[in-house]
Amino acid sequence: MSADFKPLTLTPRVPQFAAHASGIDLSRPLPPETLDAVRAAWRDYPVLCFTDQHLDPASLQDFAAQIGPFGEDPYVAPLPDFPHVIEVKREARETAPIFGSQWHSDWSFQATPPSATLLYGAEIPPSGGDTVFADCVAAYAALSPTMQSLLAGLNGVHTAAPAYGPKGLFSRDDASRSMRIIVSSDAERCEVHPLVRRHPESGRPALYVNHVYTVGIEGMRRDESRALLEFLFGHLTQPEFVHRHRWQPGSLLMWDNRRVVHFADGGYEGHRRLMYRSTLAGERPVRA
Ligand code: SIN
Repeated sequence: MSADFKPLTLTPRVPQFAAHASGIDLSRPLPPETLDAVRAAWRDYPVLCFTDQHLDPASLQDFAAQIGPFGEDPYVAPLPDFPHVIEVKREARETAPIFGSQWHSDWSFQATPPSATLLYGAEIPPSGGDTVFADCVAAYAALSPTMQSLLAGLNGVHTAAPAYGPKGLFSRDDASRSMRIIVSSDAERCEVHPLVRRHPESGRPALYVNHVYTVGIEGMRRDESRALLEFLFGHLTQPEFVHRHRWQPGSLLMWDNRRVVHFADGGYEGHRRLMYRSTLAGERPVRA
């Protein structure tokens, strides 16, 4: 065991879903045993909050690189000196819609969407600004066997167009937006993924649909797929599957996009909120 090994202390917040992790300093290179402990904790708790951290874009990027290869972050320009870090930022004066404020799984329109997102709270407003999560494994398990069979052979159609396309949400931004968002016709491309994916580590089936990027179901008429997707969105985001993360200054949250959907909540008008975000590469979703 390395001389600089420090144990990771886990405090569960929601059984098998969310936990606080303390006892380690993520701003320094971590010994292999600690990295293994972080990966194991994140396998057990797909919403993992490291408390009492002091990170900046450089140390966030360095920590992320120790956990796994980076994902690809389209449509938001990275920080000039940190190609794998974006700012999720809202100035006190902003009036444009909050970034990430509808349920989604990060970049689910990619062929290989990111496994993890790491979000560090650099400036947290005095109230509001929570990040809210839903558990796609628990939601799938609660469906009837008949609904599970219906979903088994189906694929969802995912696209970035509703957000980043030429007619998407961000194309209508007013000048107050401080984030560096890129609107592009590339966003109109579609990618098809199973509606129920097998989690690559736990093997458990998880619903893989989200309000922003899942726009249809392959082979179904528009009205048919809309009805089924609306049902699934409503089912997935029932209170019993939802966990609200209230930010404290100096927290790094790491979540599993293969297991959860999330959104950024408001309620902090007139205050600044600044987060640094990095993603880790994932795999092509596999049918459960
Ligand atoms: C995001 O969707 O990545 C942003 C989440 C947040 O700002 O809380």
